[in-house]
Amino acid sequence: MEEKSLAKFRALNDTLYQSAWKSQFLTGIMMPLMNFVGNIGYVGVAVLGGWLAIKKAISVGDIQAFIQYVRNFTQPIQQIANISNVLQQTAAAAERVFEFLDEQEETPDISDPVAIEKATGHIEFKNIHFGYSKDKPIIKNFSATAHPGQKIAIVGPTGAGKTTLVKLLMRFYDVDAGAILLDGHDIRTMKRHDLRRQFGMVLQDTWLYNDTIMENIRYGRLDAADDEVIAAAKAAYVDHFVHTLPEGYNMVLNEETSNISQGQKQLLTIARAILANPPILILDEATSSVDTRTEVLIQKAMDKLMHGRTSFVIAHRLSTIQNADLILVLRDGDIAEQGTHTELLVKNGFYAELYNSQFEVPATIT
Ligand SMILES: Nc1ncnc2c1ncn2[C@@H]1O[C@H](COP(=O)(O)OP(=O)(O)OP(=O)(O)O)[C@@H](O)[C@H]1O
Ligand SMILES: [Mg+2]
Repeated sequence: MEEKSLAKFRALNDTLYQSAWKSQFLTGIMMPLMNFVGNIGYVGVAVLGGWLAIKKAISVGDIQAFIQYVRNFTQPIQQIANISNVLQQTAAAAERVFEFLDEQEETPDISDPVAIEKATGHIEFKNIHFGYSKDKPIIKNFSATAHPGQKIAIVGPTGAGKTTLVKLLMRFYDVDAGAILLDGHDIRTMKRHDLRRQFGMVLQDTWLYNDTIMENIRYGRLDAADDEVIAAAKAAYVDHFVHTLPEGYNMVLNEETSNISQGQKQLLTIARAILANPPILILDEATSSVDTRTEVLIQKAMDKLMHGRTSFVIAHRLSTIQNADLILVLRDGDIAEQGTHTELLVKNGFYAELYNSQFEVPATIT
């Protein structure tokens, strides 16, 4: 790959070299060329004028005036030639600016939005249809209801559309048909900011930034005091590992946040959600990178946190969602089955198959 990347870079660099060389050369040659043409005109005027003056057709003053006019005329042309490369660069840059301006606008918030302070957490998905492109539907006719305080687990194979559901709920995308109702109001009738304030999220990919651990957790609620941050960190089992770091909570995460492990990053984002204390929680594979023992501990903390809030939990390790009030089994963009863990096992359908596959020892491994 190193060789391939080098070759690719060299090819691009060559193209840049060629066009930069040409542009520099042409820019450089423009001024002398224009001067040369201007001076030829000057010589022509002097010779022709001299001849006409000898023949007494015009006076020397006329020649002088004519030369003055020619100068006045060629000077702006020369100046334009000199800035022609700047004009070209401007055109190229403007193209990029217009490309940006031409991007489709996010649908604006409606003019009289429903004001929502703290949601109770009743969420209803009503026959929603959605696809990232119109010809490829991902979610087809999905309906489900989450009552306040319930823990809803969403399970299903990779690529089934679990994360997509979360994105629709937070209104990163709008549904193509149907509606999502929060406390009985269509989420499209709310301001995006008000809607998103109701949710705390811990996602598959973590987002931390180049600052101290303390500030990264505080990002969940900006006005939190230090001891509140530390309490949240304790609840998420972050406190212990932070104490093993050289500078503790003041350790600065580097630009790529590569100086802590993947699991530690997840714990930090969980602490952030705990601190934010939102009415609705979304956990998308929140503990996928954490060892199973820590996962059990976090699960306990989470169950405490989730008490009295609506929460959506997406997990591949089905052992973590057994106690959910409702399990939605998603398959090819629709609910294949729904019910509690025991109900679904009794049904012996797709969920049972998924569940058993995680605990059975395969008879033969080939
Ligand atoms: N931004 C996007 N643009 C186009 N297609 C997308 C986009 N994001 C996801 N998809 C497609 O939508 C489908 C569902 O993706 P989604 O992320 O919801 O899966 P998932 O159920 O969360 O899977 P996993 O268990 O791996 O997290 C996939 O087939 C994926 O290729
Ligand atoms: Mg996902």
